[in-house]
Order: sequence, then C-alpha cells, then structure tokens
Amino acid sequence: MKKAVYPGSFDPVTYGHLDIIKRAASIFDELTVSVLNNKEKKPLFSVEERVKILEEATKDLPNVKVDSFSGLLIDYTKKNDIPVAIRGLRAVTDFEYELQIAQTNRALSKEQLDTMFFTTSLEYAYLSSSSVKEIASFGGDIAMCVPDFVAEQVYEKYGIDRNQFK
Ligand code: PNS
Repeated sequence: MKKAVYPGSFDPVTYGHLDIIKRAASIFDELTVSVLNNKEKKPLFSVEERVKILEEATKDLPNVKVDSFSGLLIDYTKKNDIPVAIRGLRAVTDFEYELQIAQTNRALSKEQLDTMFFTTSLEYAYLSSSSVKEIASFGGDIAMCVPDFVAEQVYEKYGIDRNQFK
C-alpha cells in the first residue's frame, strides 16, 4: 500500500490545501493529513478544532485520514510506516524553505522519508492561512479562500458578523 502524509499547521485549511489533498489522494492509496501540535505557535484554532475541520472538509475522500502529531515529522512517519511527505509549493520563496526541510528530513531519517512537492494550482497560488486570518480579522471577505463552514468558524473566532457579506 502506497502511503503518504501531508503535514502542516492547517490553521485553518484553505482551498489551496484542499486542492493538494485531493491531488495527492488520487496518487496514493492512503493519505494522512496530520496537524502539527506546535506549542510555540499561537494558533487561531486548537489542534482538536483543526482536526475536526479537516475531517469535515475531506469527508468525501475515502482514502484520506486526519490525525495530529507533535515532535519531529520523521519520528511520526517512522512510527506509522509512512515513506513520503507531501508539501505544496506556491512560489520560489516556498521552495527555499521547503527544500531545506525536505533535505533535513531525508538526512535525519537516514533516507527513509522523501518529500514530494505539488505545485499549487495557479488559482490558489496567492492563498495562505495567515492571509485568510488577517483578511477575516479586519472584516474582509474570505469566501474565495476557504469552504463556507470554515469561514463561519473563522469569523466566529474574531467575533465578526459574516452576514455582512451576504
Ligand atoms: O503548515 P506549516 O506550518 O508550513 O507546516 C510546517 C511543518 C508542520 C511541515 C513543519 O514545521 C514540520 O514538519 N514540523 C515538525 C518538526 C520537524 O520535524 N522539524 C524538522 C524539520 S527542520
């Protein structure tokens, strides 16, 4: 069985992430989307909330599982016998950062973990979870960035009445 993991913060999941999830799920037998429990970051959504949102967003993809992890990705992939990590690339700036992480993970895992990059579909190339949060926090419209039920929860976090966009 060909297994892969798509690790990330997913705070919150965007249409860009979902596009990569769908494409990776069509190539691998089993794709685990795993939320990093990073104590150093101050996320908008808790790990549990992000897992729940991802479960809802991927409910129509039968070979996609949602999980969370803390610590090193290579320890998580070793424990779960997953040889491939998926990451999305939006621009050259992403590549510099991602290349370094991918090479570190390959070396640290003694070549047991490879990273496969998906180029983000052009329509989502400008999207990021950070910009979604910034736009929403100032009352902007995020309908083109995240599914409706996610937008609802983001606005709720900022105490914003989303009916203003209807
Ligand atoms: O969505 P993000 O925040 O860009 O995801 C980054 C992530 C989770 C892929 C990366 O930070 C990660 O794998 N962290 C786990 C810690 C780890 O393994 N670090 C070693 C690489 S230098």
